[in-house]
Amino acid sequence: MPTSVSLIVDEIGQLCTIPTQDGGPQRGSQLGELGIITNAAVAISEGKIVNAGTREEILDNYHADRVISARGRLVTPGLIDPHTHAVWMGDRADEFEQRLQGVSYQEIMAAGGGINRTVQLTRAASVADLVEAAKLRLTRAMQHGTTTMEIKTGYGLNVETEMALLNAIALLDVEHPLDIVPTFLGAHAIPPEFADDPDGYVALVTDQMIPLVASWKEEHWPDAVYCDVFCEEGAFSLEQTRRIFEVARRAGLSLRLHADEFASLGGVELAIEMGARSVDHLLATTPEDAERLGMSDTIAVLMPATPFGLGIANTAPLPLLLQTNAIVALGSDCNPGTAWCENMQFTLALACRQLRMTPAQALCAATINAAFAVDQGFVAGSIEADRRADLVIWDVPDYRHLPYRFGTNMAGVVIKSGAIVYDSIPGV
Ligand code: NIG
Ligand code: FE
Repeated sequence: MPTSVSLIVDEIGQLCTIPTQDGGPQRGSQLGELGIITNAAVAISEGKIVNAGTREEILDNYHADRVISARGRLVTPGLIDPHTHAVWMGDRADEFEQRLQGVSYQEIMAAGGGINRTVQLTRAASVADLVEAAKLRLTRAMQHGTTTMEIKTGYGLNVETEMALLNAIALLDVEHPLDIVPTFLGAHAIPPEFADDPDGYVALVTDQMIPLVASWKEEHWPDAVYCDVFCEEGAFSLEQTRRIFEVARRAGLSLRLHADEFASLGGVELAIEMGARSVDHLLATTPEDAERLGMSDTIAVLMPATPFGLGIANTAPLPLLLQTNAIVALGSDCNPGTAWCENMQFTLALACRQLRMTPAQALCAATINAAFAVDQGFVAGSIEADRRADLVIWDVPDYRHLPYRFGTNMAGVVIKSGAIVYDSIPGV
């Protein structure tokens, strides 16, 4: 007697299940294990995957009221974006133009532009306006195959607006189908009112903001809430980062770090020492720090859209990270300064060309490893029993098309927790 389920996705030409490696992320040179099943089907009930296998295995054992046919197309887990700054107001198109004329990102930041421009506009907005603006971005991401997204604060830089941003992030999780993972990034830049007293701002972060974030977590968020710092020349020093991390960790927050985007200040070593979940960017990472990552569980999140957006070379040491056995994931970094791109397909396309990832490595880095980078490695990022039924029917026949083609959307149908949230293929 077949078991009754709510939905079967049938006639999948190529199913990439993206398995864990010994129950964990795909480490080092193991990255790229796709778990391909051809002529496959997936059975779904109550928002979760019940089983995935060949068509015979699934159709012999399950019956569903609703069956959708992928008609020979590719199906993968929904993409996981482990690094975004998706809640902001306004834009910085003028700075893009300045950069094209030769002014650097750091020069713009030192002259009071950059992050602080966005802070000014964000502080003036209401939570409702912020949610509305961000919702459009989340919808664009979802329509391009993203089903889980980490979102950082960091455009408030005062108590009131940083908390407003956290509240906006919590509202987005309720009001939008995407699953959201929140990160407090109060230490994103020194706000103008503390320009002459950066340590005073660090004290505001440690003494006032972090305790409020910890009580916010108590009240609103049973899962991990992260504390991130932009550890960089012109932003926060290594010593300031340590101070913030120590307080955050004591307050029960998990850690992640913007490290080595422009200069290597030692953030990677500190993040590993303090048990951070991830270190992100890594364009200036030294061979020694790549070795350290290989011996740690801190995940290296690479974001090729950022150097692309800045028009600079992508110097992240991917071959070394894989060789040293580091865990590598991919993220979009979606933000108004360096990389306004909600589409993770473009991140895959760039990762293959700029970092020489194989298509299989890029896909696994943006699914199972990205899931582990936001502590969702046991509930998402892979198509296997009991995980969230987050999957994408791509309008292509095989996984290599995802990074091979670029500039148009290849997502055909996006299924989030078992529900169709986007459908661009008539008749599926
Ligand atoms: O990850 N580097 C710091 N934060 C962002 C940029 C934010 C902005 O410029 O608004 C990044 O690139
Ligand atoms: Fe970032």
